[in-house]
Amino acid sequence: MNTQTLEETARMMVADGKGLLAIDESTTTCNKRFAKFDIPQTAEAHRQYRQLIVDTPGLNESISGAILFDETIRQKKDCETPFAAGLAAIGILPGIKVDLGAKPMACFPGEKVTDGLDGLRPRLAEYVQMGARFAKWRAVIAIGSRMPSMGCIKANAHALARYAALCQEVGLVPVVEPEVLMEGSHTLEVCSEVTERVLRAVFRELYSQRVKLEGMILKPNMVLPGLSCAHQESVEEIADATVACLLRSVPAAVPGIAFLSGGQTGELACARLSAINIRYKSRLPWQVSFSFGRAIQEPALSIWNGKPRNVLDAQESLYHRAKCARAAHLGSYSLTVEANHEQSDALHATGIYASAK
Ligand code: 13P
Repeated sequence: MNTQTLEETARMMVADGKGLLAIDESTTTCNKRFAKFDIPQTAEAHRQYRQLIVDTPGLNESISGAILFDETIRQKKDCETPFAAGLAAIGILPGIKVDLGAKPMACFPGEKVTDGLDGLRPRLAEYVQMGARFAKWRAVIAIGSRMPSMGCIKANAHALARYAALCQEVGLVPVVEPEVLMEGSHTLEVCSEVTERVLRAVFRELYSQRVKLEGMILKPNMVLPGLSCAHQESVEEIADATVACLLRSVPAAVPGIAFLSGGQTGELACARLSAINIRYKSRLPWQVSFSFGRAIQEPALSIWNGKPRNVLDAQESLYHRAKCARAAHLGSYSLTVEANHEQSDALHATGIYASAK
């Protein structure tokens, strides 16, 4: 293991103003999202959509790394360049989702544990050959009556740590994602208490599996009230609760925290991330950035709608959402930034946009 390379890669992933773009939806999830717009649910449609995303001019101004799904890392763009090589060529680190999904946990009704440790070592070696520089594994923790159980938290934390150690062995930076879900009527306080319990368990396991904290990225949820909780705290209150929870549970040796969006709108996810950086950036030991999927992609998918004629408009939207996330990492997101739909210089430079309009 080259510790120095791991640390450098991890720092690049959360460099000032940059963050990760998750485009690693499993076939089932991607098909579900395509079905809403009557887009064909085929490998070729997935490829075209992912190509639209990675070919967005100027994407590398805000995005340091893109998380791919197994199908995508094996696919090529129209120009015959594999996706991973295409990303590397524009200075975006290729990453890969390596878990095999959250599955019902035996003896723990309603709870899930993530699959994928069996055979992981050779799979990781293959992804390295394909150009991957980092990996992602997602565990999901639900809040409900008598949930989460300690058994579920421990099993998921252990799997995350075993995965992280195997990644570092082959030089991949592990993105460690324990996601406490937003579904439910629980309060902000409950989410905070559960998130802290989960993060403490995760770091205990990472420590016992000898994972180098300097060579990993944590991808947690923000501390939020449940979606159906009657009281929804302000952006600032959420920033305060999230930072307090993370300070109690994430060691300072971790270079970066990159939040998932988890179903928040792009606007809310950016406002909350920006508030964290505005209020705390100078006092935090880690970079606090983003690893958004839906909060960057959602409007672009509906604009594209599977139609080639909509590609440029979808790319403009994607560029804008990525730019907003960048501003949030820098603590400079505002309604003005949100309203300013400037096109990327790169998109302008192609001249295609203006002529297509
Ligand atoms: P969302 O930002 O849409 O939650 O996706 C992030 C992700 O990678 C989930 O694993």
